[in-house]
Amino acid sequence: MKKVNYSYDKITQLIKDNAHKINNYNPDYIIAIGGGGLIPARLIRNYVKKPLYVVTLSLYDDDKIKDTVEIIQWIDNDLSEKKIMIVDEVDDTRKTLDFCIKRFKLINNAKNIGIFVLQNKIKEKLGQLDDDIKYISCENVQDDWIVYPWDL
Ligand code: G4P
Ligand code: MG
Repeated sequence: MKKVNYSYDKITQLIKDNAHKINNYNPDYIIAIGGGGLIPARLIRNYVKKPLYVVTLSLYDDDKIKDTVEIIQWIDNDLSEKKIMIVDEVDDTRKTLDFCIKRFKLINNAKNIGIFVLQNKIKEKLGQLDDDIKYISCENVQDDWIVYPWDL
């Protein structure tokens, strides 16, 4: 798979250029999906002054296929009256994101959900986003392997 390297400068610029879209959505909370969403969410907070929460998920291998989502940490806030913006680094298969959205609805009673990702990979997705979900991606990219500065 072709690799594409991203620098911190490139990432911070993408966030700087797109943070106004989050402010326009005006969420009550930013929720990072760890680990990939942690650094983007922290950088977003330079421009979006909202409380930052974290949930952590991991995809693990079942029969050598990464197909089971493991919850490392979740929050127990009632989000029924809150607007949330979920932050992750990449929308790849959408499996993790889809799982996350379903769980925020089920466990936290979330009704107003937005998604922010740095890169959306142009490919067939495993999960589908409902129409009522606000979706922001900084850029649409080919299905290459992105090497983030925090991967190095
Ligand atoms: P999605 O819902 O966000 O599309 O995620 P998906 O389940 O498809 O992604 C599986 C894992 O692969 C995720 O890591 C995701 O961050 C990672 N991933 C997918 N494409 C790339 C890429 O191009 N570059 C890098 N560096 N990672 C990619 P995870 O299980 O959530 O682990 P973590 O790193 O967030 O802890
Ligand atoms: Mg992740």
